[in-house]
Amino acid sequence: MHLKYIFAAVMGLAVGKLHAQGPSASRKAKGGTGSFSLFAYGGEIGGLPVFFLNGAAVITDFKTANNSGSNLVPVAFTSGGDGSFSASPNTTAPVFNNATASPPFNNTCFFIPGAGNSSHEVGFASNSTSTDIITTGWTFYGHIALLESTDGSLISLFWAVPSGTDRVWNLTWNETDTSDSAIPVTLKDTPPPNLVTKA
Ligand SMILES: *[C@@H]1O[C@H](CO)[C@@H](O)[C@H](O)[C@H]1NC(C)=O
Ligand SMILES: *[C@@H]1O[C@H](CO)[C@@H](O)[C@H](O)[C@H]1NC(C)=O
Ligand SMILES: *[C@@H]1O[C@H](CO)[C@@H](O)[C@H](O)[C@H]1NC(C)=O
Ligand SMILES: *[C@@H]1O[C@H](CO)[C@@H](O)[C@H](O)[C@H]1NC(C)=O
Ligand SMILES: *[C@@H]1O[C@H](CO)[C@@H](O)[C@H](O)[C@H]1NC(C)=O
Ligand SMILES: *[C@@H]1O[C@H](CO)[C@@H](O)[C@H](O)[C@H]1NC(C)=O
Ligand SMILES: *[C@@H]1O[C@H](CO)[C@@H](O)[C@H](O)[C@H]1NC(C)=O
Ligand SMILES: *[C@@H]1O[C@H](CO)[C@@H](O)[C@H](O)[C@H]1NC(C)=O
Repeated sequence: MHLKYIFAAVMGLAVGKLHAQGPSASRKAKGGTGSFSLFAYGGEIGGLPVFFLNGAAVITDFKTANNSGSNLVPVAFTSGGDGSFSASPNTTAPVFNNATASPPFNNTCFFIPGAGNSSHEVGFASNSTSTDIITTGWTFYGHIALLESTDGSLISLFWAVPSGTDRVWNLTWNETDTSDSAIPVTLKDTPPPNLVTKA
C-alpha cells in the first residue's frame, strides 16, 4: 500500500471532515464487510447516502429523495470477490416511490468511467466488460472507499456536482468542470449521526 497516496487523497479531498474524525478512528475496523451503504463527505455535504437514479449514482438525503418525485432508490452494497462493489436496493431505507416499490436493478456493478471516457458520471452497470468503465479495484482504507489504480496507488477522485434539483448532487469521478459548485467528496461506509435529514 502506498500510504502517501492515501494521505494525499484524504487530506486533499476530504478536507476538515475526515481530519476531524481522525485516522485512528478509521483504522479501528476495515470498511466494506457484509452489506453496507456508502455516504459522501466533503464541504457542505456531511454524509449523504448514494442513490440509484436511472442507472446513475446521485447523493442526497432520505427526506429530499422521498419528496423529490423522482425514482431515487437507496443502495446497499456488498464487496464482490473480484474487487467490485455489488449494488442492490436497500429496501429498508425510509424512501418510497415507484422505483423502490419495484427496483429496476439487483446485484449491479458500481462503476466509474475509465480515464479515456469523456463522461464523468458514476453509476451502475451489468457485470460484463464494457470498453471504458471501471468496476473493479475497490478497496477500503479504514472506512474510506478507494480505487487501487493500475500503478498500485489508492485514489479517490469523487465529486458531487449539483444535479439541477435542489439538494441532489450527481456523483462524478475525475471531474474536469470544477468551476461551479462542484464539491470534492470521499465515500465512506459509515453514516453521519443525523442521517435522515442531514444535507
Ligand atoms: C417518506 O414518505 C412516506 C409517505 O409516503 C412517509 O411515511 C415517510 O415518513 C417519509 N420518509 C421520510 C424520510 O421523509
Ligand atoms: C408512479 O406511478 C404512477 C402510476 O403509474 C404515475 O402516475 C406517477 O407519475 C409515477 N411517479 C413517478 C415519480 O414516476
Ligand atoms: C462480477 O462477476 C465476478 C465473477 O463472476 C464476481 O466475482 C463479482 O462478485 C461480480 N460482481 C458483481 C457486482 O456482481
Ligand atoms: C438500509 O437503510 C437503513 C436505514 O437507513 C439502514 O439502517 C441500513 O443499515 C441500510 N442497509 C444497508 C445494507 O446499507
Ligand atoms: C436479487 O438477486 C439475488 C441473487 O443474487 C436473489 O436472491 C434475489 O431474490 C434478487 N432480488 C430481486 C428483487 O430480484
Ligand atoms: C483524469 O482525467 C485526465 C484527463 O482530464 C486523465 O488524463 C487522467 O488519466 C484521468 N485520471 C483517472 C484516474 O482517471
Ligand atoms: C463512459 O461512461 C459512461 C458512464 O459515465 C458509460 O455509460 C459509457 O458506456 C462509457 N463509454 C464507453 C465508451 O464505455
Ligand atoms: C445529473 O445526472 C442526470 C442523470 O444521469 C442527468 O440527466 C443530468 O444531466 C446530470 N446533471 C448534471 C448537471 O450533470
